[in-house]
Amino acid sequence: MTKPHILQIGPYPTWDVEELEKSFTLLKYYEAKDAEAFVAEHADKITGIATRGELGANRALIEALPKLEIISVYGVGYDAVDLTAAKEHNIRVTNTPDVLTQDVADLGFAMMMAASRNIIGAQQWVKSGNWASKGMFPLQNRVFGKKVGILGLGRIGYQVARRCAAFDMDIAYSDLVEHDYAKDMTYVQDPVALAEHADFLFVTLTGGAATKHIVNKDVIKALGPNGMIINVSRASNIDEEALLGALADGSLGFAALDVFEGEPNLDPRFLSLENVLLQPHHASGTFETRKAMGKLVRDNLIAHFDGRELISPVL
Ligand code: 8YV
Repeated sequence: MTKPHILQIGPYPTWDVEELEKSFTLLKYYEAKDAEAFVAEHADKITGIATRGELGANRALIEALPKLEIISVYGVGYDAVDLTAAKEHNIRVTNTPDVLTQDVADLGFAMMMAASRNIIGAQQWVKSGNWASKGMFPLQNRVFGKKVGILGLGRIGYQVARRCAAFDMDIAYSDLVEHDYAKDMTYVQDPVALAEHADFLFVTLTGGAATKHIVNKDVIKALGPNGMIINVSRASNIDEEALLGALADGSLGFAALDVFEGEPNLDPRFLSLENVLLQPHHASGTFETRKAMGKLVRDNLIAHFDGRELISPVL
């Protein structure tokens, strides 16, 4: 039997490519010189797409593939997949929830710690010889016991909250509804009120039209010159223009960001700011999690083409 043809949108680690190639013929979209011509050439064979959270699959691509049956996303976020187009064309969509939750929460928490205690600046102080020549490193801000606001208490937000609880932090969260599993936290529905309460504001919401720019200029202003935003979700959840302005004029204290509009080509204004910690969208980037994500991408594709139930369906 011939192997199903899968359009691979972006690179995966070698171990995933090797495993995928046992069951599928991979067509590497990201290596094509003329992507549109490449898709047109193979359109009559492609029955699946393997993509990544931030790359997704748009309507034009979905509609260019008349035999497409399934889109398997390497990532929990599927906001870059046009779900309306997928639904219209009866295309199944899967993602990789759960397996990455703890690592994303770890990185978010670590970003708060690293930024608040200026761990990167402190290492520079040692390496540059400043410790010996200038003396003690300037004092930094405490984390434990402070007030934290979690915008979006889903799987990842909840794990961030657990880590904060271990640091005796005062935790409030905002979500569409109050959650039974969060009785020990304060529910504050309005994001501006949440930001007013918080020293640290974690953004752990799903991306997409419904949450676009939920962190707007009012939320940023409410957080204030001593506040910090930590974003491990999607750049679209924050009004980046307002964020850049507030960081530049000091009306927001600090931003620790793993995601950016137009990433990896982020707005160059970020690079000259002192009050930022910039990370290259790697919150799920551990060997263990990425291996589990790759397996889930494959297992969903294999289940589909074997006619079995999907493991983690979105659609
Ligand atoms: C990326 C993510 O998919 O899970 C998500 O939604 O954004 C990430 O895990 C990862 O960077 C791989 O491309």
